[in-house]
Amino acid sequence: MRFRCQGPSLVVDTPAKLNLFLDVRGKRPDGYHELETLMVSIGLFDTLRFSPRAKGIGLQVRSAEAGCADLSSGPDNLVLRAASRLAAEADCDQGVSIELEKRIPLQSGLGGGSSDAAAALVGLNRFWKLNLSQEKLHQLAAELGSDVNFFLDSHPLAVCRGRGERVDPARLGAPLHFVLVRPRTGLSTADVFRAWRPAPASLELERLLASLRAGHSQTAGRQLHNALQAPAIECNSEIDETMQTLSRLPLLGAAMTGSGSVCFGMCGSRPQAKSIAGRLRARTGMRAWIVATSV
Ligand code: C5P
Repeated sequence: MRFRCQGPSLVVDTPAKLNLFLDVRGKRPDGYHELETLMVSIGLFDTLRFSPRAKGIGLQVRSAEAGCADLSSGPDNLVLRAASRLAAEADCDQGVSIELEKRIPLQSGLGGGSSDAAAALVGLNRFWKLNLSQEKLHQLAAELGSDVNFFLDSHPLAVCRGRGERVDPARLGAPLHFVLVRPRTGLSTADVFRAWRPAPASLELERLLASLRAGHSQTAGRQLHNALQAPAIECNSEIDETMQTLSRLPLLGAAMTGSGSVCFGMCGSRPQAKSIAGRLRARTGMRAWIVATSV
């Protein structure tokens, strides 16, 4: 997350994530799934602006991307839920106007909603001068969603376990470059988890972590894995088409992120990512982004 003050306002840029590895270990008695996943922060950001207001919490959403246009600014919005939960926890009666500028597409597996919620917790803790501990913020984050904890500490790379809320930072030896493509339709996380069936694990996270630590992106590219890819294809056949398109390009590796629907290819450099994104746009007419790792 990046913070800056503009007059009386606090502005926070908060990133998207990619899952370089995602294994589902089984369904839990509480209905959630036990995960082992490796997440990396990327340079695609939503922006939250917190400005003074006498009373109450107001939210205005602006969409800079076609895939963001349907986001509600009502009480179900994760930013409002995070702000209200934080105010209640700290017994705070200060007001705030929040402007949320969306660039991270919805239903994409890029973690935009979770990242916005984390930015609301960290940003408002500063803006309202509440001084809540990071431990308390983590508690609130876990209540709001499974990916919110990852974004809270701005780790470039981390292994997340449990529902996704237990975060263990990892080291990245060199920056990574990606091209992202978004199929025309998104996917619901709950639907994809519902379609998941146990399958024998084929790849190990430890080998991927060692490659990333050593800065060997070529080896890392061959170890990308997502156990939600097969159930996501069942829910949306466009994922299969997208992955097939990616497999015909000179990438270090490719996978779907989270519960989809965005798929990504790992590239050796930014110029390579740029050239591949150009070819993808020309061939498929799909929206393609070029991004690198970020904090
Ligand atoms: O926690 P979050 O609200 O992001 O999860 C959305 C939905 O995804 C959950 O309601 C659940 O159906 C599914 N999920 C799951 N196991 C996880 C994370 C999410 O089954 N570890």
